Parts: sequence; structure tokens; C-alpha cells
Amino acid sequence: MPNTFIIFGASGDLTSRKLIPALYVLFRKKRLPADTRIVGFSRTPFTHDAWREKLAGTTKEFTGKDFAAETWSKFAQTIFYQAGDIDKPDSFSALRATVEQIEEWQPSTRVYYLATSPQFYEEAIAQLGAAGLAEETNGARRRIVIEKPFGTDLASAQHLNEAVHKVFSEKQVYRIDHYLGKETVQNIMVLRFANSIFEPIWNRNYIDHVQITVAEEVTVGRRGEYYEKAGIVRDMFQNHLLQLLMVTAMEAPVKYQADAVRNEKVKVLEAVHPLTPKEVAWNTLRAQYKGYLNEPGVAPDSTTPTYAVVKLCVDNWRWQGVPFFLRSGKAMSCRSSQIVIQFRQPPHQLFNHKSNQDVEANRLIIQIQPAEGIQLMFQTKTPDAGMDLRLTELDFSFSREFKGEIPEAYQRLLLDTLIGDASLFTRADEAELAWGIIDPILAAWQTTKQPDLLVYEPGLWGPAEAIDWMYHHGCQWFDTCPVLT
Ligand SMILES: NC(=O)c1ccc[n+]([C@@H]2O[C@H](COP(=O)([O-])OP(=O)(O)OC[C@H]3O[C@@H](n4cnc5c(N)ncnc54)[C@H](OP(=O)(O)O)[C@@H]3O)[C@@H](O)[C@H]2O)c1
Repeated sequence: MPNTFIIFGASGDLTSRKLIPALYVLFRKKRLPADTRIVGFSRTPFTHDAWREKLAGTTKEFTGKDFAAETWSKFAQTIFYQAGDIDKPDSFSALRATVEQIEEWQPSTRVYYLATSPQFYEEAIAQLGAAGLAEETNGARRRIVIEKPFGTDLASAQHLNEAVHKVFSEKQVYRIDHYLGKETVQNIMVLRFANSIFEPIWNRNYIDHVQITVAEEVTVGRRGEYYEKAGIVRDMFQNHLLQLLMVTAMEAPVKYQADAVRNEKVKVLEAVHPLTPKEVAWNTLRAQYKGYLNEPGVAPDSTTPTYAVVKLCVDNWRWQGVPFFLRSGKAMSCRSSQIVIQFRQPPHQLFNHKSNQDVEANRLIIQIQPAEGIQLMFQTKTPDAGMDLRLTELDFSFSREFKGEIPEAYQRLLLDTLIGDASLFTRADEAELAWGIIDPILAAWQTTKQPDLLVYEPGLWGPAEAIDWMYHHGCQWFDTCPVLT
């Protein structure tokens, strides 16, 4: 059966930077089914060849040494372009005719990928429905991939889900959060559920708290206009950080299948207690880097945060009383996404040497990127120093262990949409529950104005006040930049 990827937003940044390079690398690795075709759709007029030529340049740029002209020219033969406007029904009739001709009127698997600005999602879905492009007749399969952001709050996410479900059933829908396509994020489930030594201690009896950090070194730059509407919480917390929280805190699913996995993730969100305005004042921090107000597209009196911390509790048997600190910021010290599992102190300090007064407890650090790996910190006796102790580490690095490069998240995710595996995609209820946690924070910041918006110097780990704040919550930040090997 033929497979066709139809990309809405074909002339855009995501298509040239991520989607086509990922599809090209899959083709080069012979992972794409032989009869896979790609059809681009956007308003800019291109001939098939003109679009192929444009993509040759960008794919070369974004795949680097993976690019080979000969392989590209074979791959390019599978790429087609149909100019059209999402607002115009005629464009969808023309698209339908083009795709059917390419598929030689056979039943096919089609993946419609919405890589346009979110304001077009609803219209594109309605037009697909009206043109009969969502129907699964004669064994055909139709799937829709929806890029982030999925809504801007709970009400808009619910509205979008309703619009999607008028045309596609939930099993046809793939809401993408590329974090779940990362090998290191999937490896959290492997670490926890394919080993027997972690699960017995993965709970409130042994874990003191969890820190989940997604730090970016870059500033907002030219994305000021977008960022002003989003801010750090919509941009990072509703999706990536809550996904990392779910994978860290979920119970073991009964099998590794889309709904079993997603049921367990959803239960984590259901157990997260949404913060009251009073709790927002105490359990969150927000800040803006110095210089943000001078970025193009940013209002001179903007209060959009570029850094935030949110302390959440997962109110269930396993996690009662264990705080999860979620933190993200732009213009930070370095680019680093990591999860720190901070274990409790041993119940009794046996080695009561005076140099051991601040003996640190065990810590497991899961490095999501860029130094993909895991470190386990533990106390060791310093040789020839009496009973002096030192924190040392067991260090696992993906690049050292597996050589070769870690594939881009989009490769795995695009392939999953073709084979129909939705395990690494967000379900409708999951997207709505996530907004249900985020909305009260944004609302409280708006109404009570608490906590105050702080300012931080670019190149640090956020505002200096965050250190004291963490201290008052009985914890300490673990702030080191990953060492790239
Ligand atoms: N870029 C990234 O790295 C990235 C990462 C994660 C998520 N995303 C998400 O992916 C989506 C696309 O982002 P992007 O950065 O690629 O945006 P972009 O560069 O602005 O591209 C938007 C695309 O939509 C097309 N378009 C606009 N109006 C249209 C219409 N009426 N009919 C048909 N096509 C229309 C544009 O082409 P024409 O002007 O030719 O019509 C263009 O191809 C967004 O939702 C974004 O949040 C992007």
C-alpha cells in the first residue's frame, strides 16, 4: 500500500529544518517504506523541481555529513509540490487530485502533517474533512499530525480537540511533542522498567525531591513577537517539562502500547494538584533576563517571563510529599536538559568525621541533552584520609557507549506516524490536563501579580533569588553544565 506524507507549511522553517532532513535520513538508512511519497502544500508557487532544489540546499545544510548528492537525487524523485491556500476549498480539491494521481488511485496510508502556524490548524482540519480527505475507505488509513502548541490554554485546547474530533477519530490523531522522540526520554522508561534495581527505590521512601530543568543558552532573538504571546510557561512547561514529569513519575504500564503508556502518563497529571493563587505566589518563580525588553518585537513594558520555576506535587501513594521542581529559562548559563533525582540522606551518619559534615546524599542525573547520559553520584572513602568521604560518580554516556550520533527526534516520530504507533504522542485528555495545571499559574500571575517578576543577568542560572527560594523549600539547585565528551 502506498504511503504519502502531506506537509502543510511546506515552504516553512520546520519543514526545511526538521521534517525533510529527518525523512531524507530515514530514506538513506532504508527505514522508509519503499513506496513512500512526500507532497508539500503551501501558498508559495513552486514547481516540483523548484521545491526539490530548495530542499536539496536546506537538507544539505541541516544533515551535514549525512548528505550524499546521489542518495538525495533518488529521494528527490519521491517529493512533489502542490501550491494551495488553507482558506480555499479549491486548493483541497486540487490537493486531492494530485495525491490520488501520485498514489495511482490505490488505497493508501496518508499522514497529513500540520506544520503551519497554529491559527490554521482548525481550518486545515475542517477543509480536509470537507474534501473527504479524512475518510478511511477500502482499507485506506488517514492520520493527522498536529505540531505544538496545541492550544494556548485549556479552553482553546478543548475547542481544538472538538474541531479535530469532528473530522478525525482520536486514534487518527498524533499531537507531537518532539521531546518524546528523544532517545534519552524514551530511555527513562527503559531505565526504570527494564531494570529491577531502580523501581524499589523510586518513591517517597528514598527520593527527597526531583529537579527537572530545561535550560537554553540562547536568548529570544528574532522570535520576540511569538515569545511575547507564549512566554516560558506556554513554550516549555505545558509540553516538554510536563512530559518529562510524567515519564519520571508514571507507574509501569502493563504493556508498551500507546494507550497503556498514555493511561499511566495521564494518571500522573490527574494526581498533580493544580496550584491555588496563594500557592502560586509561594511555589513559583518568574523572571526576565536583562535585555529582553530591547529584543525586536518585545513591548518596552513587557512582563513576559523568560525564566520560571514551578514546584508541583504528585498526590498519590508513590510520590506524596516529594516536590518536583520544574525549571526552564532562556539566556541561561548553558544549554542543558536534565532530570535530577535527589535521594534522601542515609538515616544515620556513621562516619562522623568532621570533614564529613555536609555529606551529600545520592543523586541520579539523567542528561536528556546535549551530553546524553546518566550519572549516579555516591559516597566513597577518600584513600589515605581516615574516614573522609567524597561524592564520586558512575558515568554512562550514550556517545561513548554506542558511538555514532543520536538520531534526531523527528526521525523516530515520523516513522511512528507511518506505522501507526501513537505511544510517543500526546492524547486529547493529556493535552487538556496539562493545560489544567498551567492555566491557574498564568491566571494567578495575571491577577495577583505574585510572585514579583524578577530580573536576571544573561549567562547565569536565573535570578539570584532562586537560590534562597530553593533553600526555603529545603533543597538546593544542582547547577552544573554538562561536560560534552
Ligand atoms: N520551526 C521549528 O523549529 C518548530 C519547532 C517546533 C514546533 N514548530 C511549530 O511548527 C509550526 C510551523 O512552524 P514554522 O517555524 O515552520 O513556521 P513558518 O516558517 O512561519 O511556516 C509557516 C508555513 O505555513 C504556510 N502558510 C501560511 N499561511 C498559509 C495558508 N493560508 N495556506 C497554506 N499555507 C500557509 C507558509 O507558507 P506560504 O507563506 O508559502 O503559504 C509556511 O510554509 C508552528 O506551529 C510551530 O509552532 C516549529
